[in-house]
This record gives sequence, structure tokens and C-alpha cells, in this order.
Amino acid sequence: MNVLINAGPTRESIDPVRFITNRSTGKMGYAIAEAALKLGHAVTLVSGPVSLPVPDGLAAFIPIESAAEMAGAMKQAMPGADLIILCAAVADYRPVVCSRSKLKKSAGNLFLELERTEDIALSLGKRKRGNQILVGFAAETDDLETNALRKMKEKNFDWIAANEVGKPGRGFASDNNALTLYASDGRRFQLELQSKKRLAVELLSLILHPGE
Ligand code: PMT
Repeated sequence: MNVLINAGPTRESIDPVRFITNRSTGKMGYAIAEAALKLGHAVTLVSGPVSLPVPDGLAAFIPIESAAEMAGAMKQAMPGADLIILCAAVADYRPVVCSRSKLKKSAGNLFLELERTEDIALSLGKRKRGNQILVGFAAETDDLETNALRKMKEKNFDWIAANEVGKPGRGFASDNNALTLYASDGRRFQLELQSKKRLAVELLSLILHPGE
């Protein structure tokens, strides 16, 4: 099976030395890529800037920096994929203007105007063919189930992994995580707190062999 995964944060430049980003380290997405490789799948990994080693044996590794670059890479790779897993924490906003020179500080406050980035998941959901499986994540601090189910519907996901973030010991940057996995046909699976590596194996086995 050809598996396409995105992972890590994006960076949205303010000027040549500053950017807006988030706390994603890529650990969850890279764990899924490694688990898929161990199962013998051909894995393409599109990754934001992280400090993890690139997994051995990938079919392709595509490093990107911004949400726009990630959108381009994912749309290009999507037609050849059977399973697409969207684990990246993509910036929802970027500065309207990226200054060519380093912004100088002055006495007053600085206001940045931000504009929406492309919702990559939404774009891929619109392009999905009947035989492709599209899996999203939902990182939520509140109303986990309601928000996750809404995102699954809006973005045309087949599965969504709901991720409660903002608590210690799980979510962004942690080695461990817990997930609730929802299928678009109404099934629901609770994946208990464990290492992201073990969680990735469990997640893939539910998605690829849902009846077992
Ligand atoms: O990298 P780690 O430190 O290990 O942390 C893992 C993680 C917390 C980043 C990961 O498990 C996770 O939850 N990833 C999704 C984070 C997120 O952006 O969730 P969201 O609820 O804002 O977005 C919903 C879905 O739409 C996600 O699949 C996201 O990839 C996608 N999206 C969001 C915005 C956007 N502009 N384009 C997108 O494709």
C-alpha cells in the first residue's frame, strides 16, 4: 500500500529571522511512518522542520517549511496514495506581509496582520477518490468529541484521531499520547495513554484491519 503522511509543524515567516510556529515535534507522525514501514508499506513523509532522524526506508522524504509548501507537496503526492494520514500541525494563519529585511524594534507595540492559510485537509478531502482512505487528527483542548466529529464531516475524513491537548504527559511534544479514533461509519475506539510508537501501531492496525 502507498501511504502518505504529513508530520511536524509549519513555519510562517515574519521576516528573514522570525516566524510563527507551534509546539509539534513530529514525534506522532514519524512514529506512524515508522510503524507503516515495519508493516512493509511504501511510505512518503512530508515533514515540517523537526529534529528527529529521517526514518530509514522511506519511498520519499519531502521536507517543507510553510503551510503553502506543505499544501503543494501533499496535493502533488496525493494521487499515488492509498492511505493518507494528516498528523501535521499546520498553521491556520500566516503574516500577510513577510518583511524582506529584519524588522527593527521601536518604542511602541507591533501589530501583525495575519491571513488564513490553505486548509490542506479540506483540499485533500475534496479531491479524495473512492478507494483512498483519508485520516485526520483533531487537536482539541475543549469539546473533543463534538469538534472531532465536525472536522471529520467537514473535511471528508474516513477516520479522525481525536487528541486532547494541553494536559501534561500527552499531546504536543510528549513521548506518550492517548487518542479516541472515530470512523465515519460511527465506530469509536479508545486508544489508552501509551508511547506514540505503540499508539501508531494500534492506530494503523485499526485503520487497516477494522474488523479484527
Ligand atoms: O508532533 P507531536 O509533538 O508528536 O504532536 C502530535 C500532534 C499533537 C501535532 C498530532 O497528534 C496532532 O494532533 N496533529 C493535528 C494537529 C492539528 O493541527 O489539528 P487541528 O484540529 O487544528 O486540524 C484538524 C486536521 O486538519 C488535522 O489533520 C490537520 O493536519 C489538518 N489541517 C489543519 C489546518 C490546516 N491549515 N490544514 C490542515 O490540513
